[in-house]
Amino acid sequence: MKVLMVGDIVGKGGRRSVIDSVPRLREELGCQLCIANGENMAGGGGMTVKCVNSLSHAKVDVVTGGDHMWDQKEFVDGISAFSHVLRPANLNVLQPGRGYGIFTASNGVNVGVISLQGRSLMTKVADNPFTAADRIVNEIRKTTPVIFVDMHAEATSEKVAMGRYLDGRVSAVLGTHTHVPTADDQVFEGGTAFQCDVGMVGSRHSVLGRAVDPVVHHFSTGMPAKFSVVENEIRLHATVVEVDAEEGHAYSTERVRRDWD
Ligand SMILES: [Fe+2]
Ligand SMILES: [Fe+2]
Repeated sequence: MKVLMVGDIVGKGGRRSVIDSVPRLREELGCQLCIANGENMAGGGGMTVKCVNSLSHAKVDVVTGGDHMWDQKEFVDGISAFSHVLRPANLNVLQPGRGYGIFTASNGVNVGVISLQGRSLMTKVADNPFTAADRIVNEIRKTTPVIFVDMHAEATSEKVAMGRYLDGRVSAVLGTHTHVPTADDQVFEGGTAFQCDVGMVGSRHSVLGRAVDPVVHHFSTGMPAKFSVVENEIRLHATVVEVDAEEGHAYSTERVRRDWD
């Protein structure tokens, strides 16, 4: 079976691209489940109930989170309405929402999905993602060996370490957060698919989805600037992983890039 993992959806342009493209992509690539990172869906930061609802026809089965999870304060209460929206599992236990779940793909296979947040070079506080992964993987494997991990982190070293740590225990560890897709997708020796970063669904004429001029001004002068989201000329980045539905190990990875205007 095949699972489609879509990178960070940025703003309205990213959402519109996903709504339009993902149903067709699933068909074209033969995917039975779609996971998408949604931490930048609402105006570039966080999620809202309206944003999540807008994806109801996008054929996205699971929405994962990240360090921008609570940028929109309404979602602190709003997340409880959605069983398919995950916040990082290694956030403080008192935070709302849940960090993993088991979802049924269109071919009837149960797929565990875990949202994790890294700690290296990240400003938002999170617990140890490795010990959290241990606990959750053991729990999910009682039900299914097909498990996908969204490792939302900045440092490539921390992401590769997580991939190696979970090799042979999960189907895939796929990174998000940097918005830049990496060319290191592969299947490790133990059967776990890995990629440092899937990329984003955001404007290709931008800096990580934000308007070029204010970001360049900020970096070149050190002065604050308003980083507006660019909503046109959207490029969708995703990765397809083919996995054995019985054993859970991965066979192959395929990077996907589509321009949408
Ligand atoms: Fe992001
Ligand atoms: Fe992030």
